Amino acid sequence: MAEGTRHRDDVDPVLVVIPTYNEKANLKPLLSRLHATLPRAHALVVDDGSPDGTGELADKLAATDDRVHVLHRTTKNGLGAAYLAGFTWGLQHGYRTLVEMDADGSHAPEDLPRLLEALRDSDLVIGSRYVQGGALVNWPLRREILSRGANLYSRVALGVNISDITAGFRAYRRDVLEALSLDEVVSEGYCFQIDLSWRTVQAGFDVVEVPITFTEREIGESKMSGSIVGEAALRVAEWGLRRRLTQLRELRDHRHVRKLRSLLPW
Ligand code: GDD
Ligand code: MN
Repeated sequence: MAEGTRHRDDVDPVLVVIPTYNEKANLKPLLSRLHATLPRAHALVVDDGSPDGTGELADKLAATDDRVHVLHRTTKNGLGAAYLAGFTWGLQHGYRTLVEMDADGSHAPEDLPRLLEALRDSDLVIGSRYVQGGALVNWPLRREILSRGANLYSRVALGVNISDITAGFRAYRRDVLEALSLDEVVSEGYCFQIDLSWRTVQAGFDVVEVPITFTEREIGESKMSGSIVGEAALRVAEWGLRRRLTQLRELRDHRHVRKLRSLLPW
């Protein structure tokens, strides 16, 4: 990357929102990598009362580093609720760029400058596993199949041309988050990512995907579950049906107008 085109992290720090549930061993190395890459970036750890003490560790790190902030929530309410709380905090504190990143090292902080660079010409940048140049490392085949299936399903149902709509490595401009009605978002699980992408596209914002390498975590466990998959399947079906209904209505109104016009003498 040429000097001068680099993100001006020094004058306008980004906020990297990091949801955590039992990520104690992963948090410190991740924050070190983040700050080695973007020394002025701020991190907001949103912890849901992790029994392993992630929240306490985050407090300890925040006590000696004013770039680190912590939000404590009392119950495990899902990724969606954690991000909504994080975004609300970030908007209130005036950040102009808000980033989503997993805590387990699957998203490389070293890829962030490229995401931020792409955000100069778009409103939402998605770190994508499924565009040219993107890659998966050590992901179990069943997870890859599930993820690719979810993407195909969403693309067909919603008619959105995004290759990795469930991706959790993203950079939003604050205007986008301000324009979306975040208080209406009820998606709890990974479906939150599809939900916000869909809202962003519908609101007319530009979405760009940049390739990333997603590396499966080495420590701890994924929080993926059957109910997370079920929620996404149901909600996407509902949004897809609504979209079709709107299209049908538009078609009907259009025909109506044409018929009226044909009755007019001029
Ligand atoms: N606060 C909080 N509350 N954090 C959570 C919760 C929750 O209920 N559930 C998960 N997290 C955190 C994890 O601690 C981790 O930092 C991040 O959210 C991602 O969770 P993982 O459980 O590691 O996700 P994954 O590896 O199975 O799934 C990946 O792929 C999904 C599908 O493409 C992630 O990249 C997801 O973001 C992505 O949607
Ligand atoms: Mn993970």
